Amino acid sequence: MINSTKPINDATPLDDISGLKLPKNKVYSLKEICIHEANNIALATLKYLSAPPSKKLAPFTYEWLSKLHEEMFGNVWDWAGKFRHVELSIGIKAYQVPTALKELADDIAYWEKHKTFDIYEASARIHHRAVQIHPFLNGNGRWSRMLANIYLRQHGSMPVKWQEDLLSKENPKRDEYIKALKVADNGDYSSLIEMHKITY
Ligand SMILES: Nc1ncnc2c1ncn2[C@@H]1O[C@H](COP(=O)(O)OP(=O)(O)OP(=O)(O)O)[C@@H](O)[C@H]1O
Ligand SMILES: [Mg+2]
Repeated sequence: MINSTKPINDATPLDDISGLKLPKNKVYSLKEICIHEANNIALATLKYLSAPPSKKLAPFTYEWLSKLHEEMFGNVWDWAGKFRHVELSIGIKAYQVPTALKELADDIAYWEKHKTFDIYEASARIHHRAVQIHPFLNGNGRWSRMLANIYLRQHGSMPVKWQEDLLSKENPKRDEYIKALKVADNGDYSSLIEMHKITY
């Protein structure tokens, strides 16, 4: 399955590495790929979260939403920042992705202008909608959590301490997180909003 690069074991199925941009002179374990991804993501963390990012740096426009994914994964995967063309078990239909992402960018601009939600509700809604759309082949969770954190940091809050290691599939905290996303699918954002208040 292409949508898991978690170090479940040390073998890398061939499907997983078709878009890998790392030097081809060696075979990479999933753990090694994960480390390369984390190093790549760290660059985006430094760029956007070390100080409150300006609207110019993080404009939350349609173009920037994809650019952020490319910045997080572009050193490792050739599909970084590119919309998927295949259906996944999570996410809307692939052909609907560009329109839905444009709508999200427009909604964010509207909420901003009209102060529709407080920052925690806005960041929770951005996070939920971004991962519900699931624009990319992989990295949608990490990208949507980064989006929420950038939004929080831009609006005077510290980022959420998601503890990426705790979000591995074996961890009970993950069930709680997925449950909060599923409840939000039905319009109840309260659990996800509470999670967005546990900041550094
Ligand atoms: N029913 C679900 N089961 C698993 N994940 C879900 C579900 N519904 C929504 N999600 C979201 O999808 C994300 C997984 O998507 P994807 O594999 O593209 O992201 P990732 O960044 O690679 O993974 P992770 O978020 O686990 O680090 C989850 O983190 C979560 O945010
Ligand atoms: Mg994944």
